[in-house]
Amino acid sequence: MSSSNPASHHHAADSWSERAKQYDRVIDILEQEMRRVTEAMLNAVRAGPGTRLLDLACGPGHVTAAAQTRGAEALGIDVTLAMVEAARRRFPDSRFAVGDMLDPPHGPWDAVTCRLGAHHVDESWMKAAWRVLTPGGRIAIAELDPTDSVSRDNGMRLPAEWARLLEGAGFEDVAVTTCTLRLGTLAAREQGLAAMAQEGHGGHFHDGPVYIIAGSKRQ
Ligand SMILES: C[S@@+](CC[C@H](N)C(=O)[O-])C[C@H]1O[C@@H](n2cnc3c(N)ncnc32)[C@H](O)[C@@H]1O
Repeated sequence: MSSSNPASHHHAADSWSERAKQYDRVIDILEQEMRRVTEAMLNAVRAGPGTRLLDLACGPGHVTAAAQTRGAEALGIDVTLAMVEAARRRFPDSRFAVGDMLDPPHGPWDAVTCRLGAHHVDESWMKAAWRVLTPGGRIAIAELDPTDSVSRDNGMRLPAEWARLLEGAGFEDVAVTTCTLRLGTLAAREQGLAAMAQEGHGGHFHDGPVYIIAGSKRQ
């Protein structure tokens, strides 16, 4: 799954296009829970009025839009055109572009966020993010617990490993916080989610942790 080979990115983009439609259907339901993760990430990067924020692998755009609601100058990028189109439809007042997080726009940026995207790509994206951040800039990623996941072979890591990788890429003051996602509780209440789980699409929905791993670039 993790690869810096451009050919595999095209392949990944294709499969994400197919999933984009389906993701689009359930994301608003999931967002009832994910909103807390988003706010924790935006707090960690201290997103506020005027913060120049780059949201990597933005998908349908919720983190980008939430940053903008705080007054940040946010840009969301995603490698999948269908995701960017969905984000633009949903949040017409936010800025989105097709782009690869391994080669991010130069900015400079005060903050970088990546919600549930880091496990999809080669870890070298972290160094690229470090380079486009301004001194004193901050990063926050959110990732699920790998031991919770259906497949172990999907790039997901333990939070301490994510923290080590961020430090390896040059980030300092790296800290992990945990947010419990009550997706099982949500699926029990929401028909759409339960049906999706039964069709075998969205994996299983259960209550479990999401880790927010944050750090900063030295002034
Ligand atoms: C699980 S979704 C997360 C989307 C969004 N951040 C969210 O939390 O709703 C993963 C996203 O990563 C994107 N992606 C995968 N590889 C990428 C890459 N190399 N550069 C940018 N985006 C990528 C996919 O297109 C998909 O939208």
